[in-house]
Amino acid sequence: MTETMMKRTDYCGALRLSDAGREVVLTGWVQTNRDHGGLIFIDLRDREGLVQIVIDPSHVSAEVFAQAEAARGEFILNVRGTVRPRDKEAVNPNRATGEIEVVCTHMVTLNKAKTPPFYIEDDVNVDEMIRLKYRYLDLRRPIMQQALRLRHKVTIAMRHFLDQEGFLEIETPILCKSSPEGARDYLVPSRVHPGEFYALPQSPQLFKQILMVAGMDRYFQIARCFRDEDLRADRQPEFTQLDIEMSFMTEEEIRAISERMLQYVFKEALGVDIPLPFPVMSWDEAIGRYGSDKPDLRFGMELIDIKDVALASDFTTFKSVAEKGGWVRGINAKGARFSRRTMDDLKDFVAIYGAKGLAYIIIEEDGLKSPIAKFFSEEQLNEICRRMDAEPGDVLMFVAADPDITAASLGALRCEVAKRLNLIDHTEFNFLWVVDFPMFEWSKEDQRWSAMHHPFTMPKEEDLDKLETDIGAVRSQAYDCVLNGCELGGGSIRIHREDIQNRIFALLGLNEEERREKFGYLLDAFEYGAPPHGGLAFGLDRMIMLMADKDSIRDVIAFPKTQSASDMMVQAPSSVTSKQLRELHIRTTQKEQK
Ligand code: AMO
Ligand code: AMP
Repeated sequence: MTETMMKRTDYCGALRLSDAGREVVLTGWVQTNRDHGGLIFIDLRDREGLVQIVIDPSHVSAEVFAQAEAARGEFILNVRGTVRPRDKEAVNPNRATGEIEVVCTHMVTLNKAKTPPFYIEDDVNVDEMIRLKYRYLDLRRPIMQQALRLRHKVTIAMRHFLDQEGFLEIETPILCKSSPEGARDYLVPSRVHPGEFYALPQSPQLFKQILMVAGMDRYFQIARCFRDEDLRADRQPEFTQLDIEMSFMTEEEIRAISERMLQYVFKEALGVDIPLPFPVMSWDEAIGRYGSDKPDLRFGMELIDIKDVALASDFTTFKSVAEKGGWVRGINAKGARFSRRTMDDLKDFVAIYGAKGLAYIIIEEDGLKSPIAKFFSEEQLNEICRRMDAEPGDVLMFVAADPDITAASLGALRCEVAKRLNLIDHTEFNFLWVVDFPMFEWSKEDQRWSAMHHPFTMPKEEDLDKLETDIGAVRSQAYDCVLNGCELGGGSIRIHREDIQNRIFALLGLNEEERREKFGYLLDAFEYGAPPHGGLAFGLDRMIMLMADKDSIRDVIAFPKTQSASDMMVQAPSSVTSKQLRELHIRTTQKEQK
C-alpha cells in the first residue's frame, strides 16, 4: 500500500467489447476472488458495475501476484491491464461486461477491508437494522445505487422543467417558527434567547406564500421538511418535498403545469410516457366509490351500496346502521374462492379500521354460502347479486357502520384483497387528481373542527356563505395528486384576503391573540397587496419509491431513520453534555451524561 495510485481511465462496469485491445486503469472493490489452477480471477466492482480481472503469473511480477492472492472481499484495488474478449464459452450474458475481461499487468492494493457483516449483493437477506448501521456497505449494493441515481435524475429533471417554465429556486429557513401542517414540531433551543425555541419547518408553506406577496411569481424548492409524527413505511421524520407556489393561476392551471412536470420527469428519468391529462375525481366520489381519498385505480372492485336492500331485510345489524344514517356497502372479490379461515383473517383486518364485523356471501356453483343469507329474501339476494355482478367463485363482503368507518374499512379491504389476488400491475403508473376536498374535518378526539388541508386553503367561492351556517358542507380549492393509491402530493389555492383568513381562523377557534402570535407576519404581509396564489408540494421520497417499485421510502433515502426515528449509523438522537445543556438554558428530567 505504499505505491502511488495509477490514474483511473475507465469505470469497471462501463467496459464493453468495443474496448477490446485498450489498456485501461481501473479502481474498485473486490467482489470475489477465485483461484483457478494458478490463474486468479477477481471481480472488481465500482459504481457502474463489475468486471472480471485475470491475473496470470506469467504477465505480472511475483509481488503483484501475491497481492492478488491476498486480496479479500471489499479490498480496494488499482489495476492496470488490457481489455480482451472472453472465449465464447466464458461469455456471461447476464452481465453488461460479460463479453470481456481485463488481463492485469500491474496492480496496487489501495486499501484493505474487514470482512463485511453481509454480502454486497442485491438479494442479500439481512436485517434492515444491520443494513442501516452499516449503511456505507448497504449503499454499495447495485440496487441501492440505482435508487439514488434515479433520485438524482428526477431532481435534475424537475429543476430543468421548472427553470424552463420560469420558476425560481429559492431557499427558505430551517430554523424558523412553528408551521401549520398539523404534526408535532421538532424544536431547537436558542442559546442567545434563554427559554426560547426555533421550530424546524414542517413545510415551507408560509414562506412560499410570502414569496408570492414579495412578487416572485413562480417559486420552487427541493425542501427538507421535519415532522415529529408516528412513522410508517411511507413516512420519515425528515423528508423531502418538491415545493411549488405560483401567483395569478387557477386551480386548473396549477394542476395542468404540475402534470406536465410529472410527465417530463417520468420521461427523462424512467423513459416512461405518462398520458395527460390525469383523470380528476371529486373527494365525495373517491370516498363513495373506493372508500379512500387516494384510491388505487389499477384495479376495480368498487364499493357497492346496498343500504336500500338492508333496510328492507330482516338483518337487524345492517338495518339499524342504515336507519341511523350509516353506510351498508360491499365489494365483490371476483373469483376469490376464499376459505373460512381467510374470511376470519379479513374480518380481523377490517377491525383495525373500526368495522364491527365482515359479513360475506360466497357464491358457489350450486348456490350461496353465507351466515347472513337467511336474513334476506330470495329477491333481495338476487338484487344484491345483480348489483354486485356476482358469479360462481366470487366472494361478496359487506360492512355496515358510520360512513367514515365503512369507507375506511372497505377502502383498505379492497387493496388487501387486490394484493392477495395479485390484481395489481406493478409496471403501471396510475395518476389521479382528487379535488373538492371538504374544507374542515371534525376531530372526535378534540371535539372541534380542524382544517383538512391547512388553514390557508381557500374555500370554494360558492361555499363561502356556508362558512358560518353549514361548516361541514364547505368544500375547499384543495387537490391531491394520487399515484397508484399513494398520496404523492397535495396543495391548494390559498386565501389571499385578510377578511376571509380571519373568518377561517375564527371557525378554527383561534382568538385574535393566538392569530397574531402564530401567523401575525402572514396577516401583516397580506395587508400590503397579496396576489391571488396557490401551489402544491410533492413528496419526493414517495415519488422515487413508486418509480423504483419499492415498498418503503427508506430504500430511496441515503441515510433514513428507523420506525423509532433513530439513525442507526450515527446513533442519533443521543444525550449531550451538561455543559451544552447549561449553555442552552435547558434542564432535562432524564438523567444527564457526565
Ligand atoms: P402535505 O402535508 O400534504 O402538504 O405534504 C405534501 C406531500 O409530502 C409528502 N409527505 C411525506 N413524505 C414522507 N414522510 C412524511 N412524513 C411526509 N409527510 C408528507 C406526501 C405529501 O403528499 N405545504 C403543503 C403543500 C401545499 O399546500 O402546497 C404540504 O406540506 O407525499
Ligand atoms: P352476528 O349477527 O353478529 O352473528 O353477525 C353475523 C355476520 O355479520 C358475521 O359474519 C359478522 O362478521 C357480520 N357482521 C356483524 N356486524 C357487522 C357489521 N357492522 N358490518 C358487517 N358485517 C357485520
